[in-house]
Amino acid sequence: MSSFSETGRLDMQAQRDITPRKPKLSVKEVEALGYYDFMSYLGVPYYHVGGLTSTKKLAELCRIDSTKKILMVGCGTGFSACYLARKIGCEVIGIDIAELSIEKAKERAKKQGVSDKAKFRVGNAYALPFEPGTFDAVITEFVSQFLDRKRAFKEFARVLKPRAYVGINEMYREKEIPAKATEEIAQAEKNWRK
Ligand SMILES: C[S@@+](CC[C@H](N)C(=O)[O-])C[C@H]1O[C@@H](n2cnc3c(N)ncnc32)[C@H](O)[C@@H]1O
Repeated sequence: MSSFSETGRLDMQAQRDITPRKPKLSVKEVEALGYYDFMSYLGVPYYHVGGLTSTKKLAELCRIDSTKKILMVGCGTGFSACYLARKIGCEVIGIDIAELSIEKAKERAKKQGVSDKAKFRVGNAYALPFEPGTFDAVITEFVSQFLDRKRAFKEFARVLKPRAYVGINEMYREKEIPAKATEEIAQAEKNWRK
């Protein structure tokens, strides 16, 4: 596992991993891109709070090691997926509905020399193109907050092995929050305001 300063350095490295697409797209072509494909076109490496530090924490919580097979739903340009493949050596499959993001993710995996471990394909969270019981963990970072969670989590459960994990780094508030989590959130807020 890497230290915080190492993850910070890798954050910087990841920024340089992907260069803006060449040749440049015309204004008309750019206008036709979806929001996330446009961000990918600009070379934005990731869009979740916490960067690699939170990805690393999620991996720990999901007990991911080199023997595990992971699905990253809404993987964007593959920033976190490549990190997990490189640092842990697990097999990661990333899916996203944004085609250009998947193109960039493949490019990133190739540049980082992890194409054998980190694979990417276009796919929809609501209809995952995998057999039941395929994965040891499903991870989402700033994705399920935008989805119909009931539908999406049902689909995640379908492709997970028994006793597998769902790891989420998302910003939403459930109506029912366990007392312990409520306490932790209040404490974190207090610390943040200090
Ligand atoms: C805020 S971005 C986060 C991307 C990446 N997880 C990260 O942290 O950088 C949300 C991502 O979810 C993808 N997405 C949205 N709806 C989706 C769906 N139904 N199935 C798969 N991906 C989806 C978007 O294309 C986008 O890449």
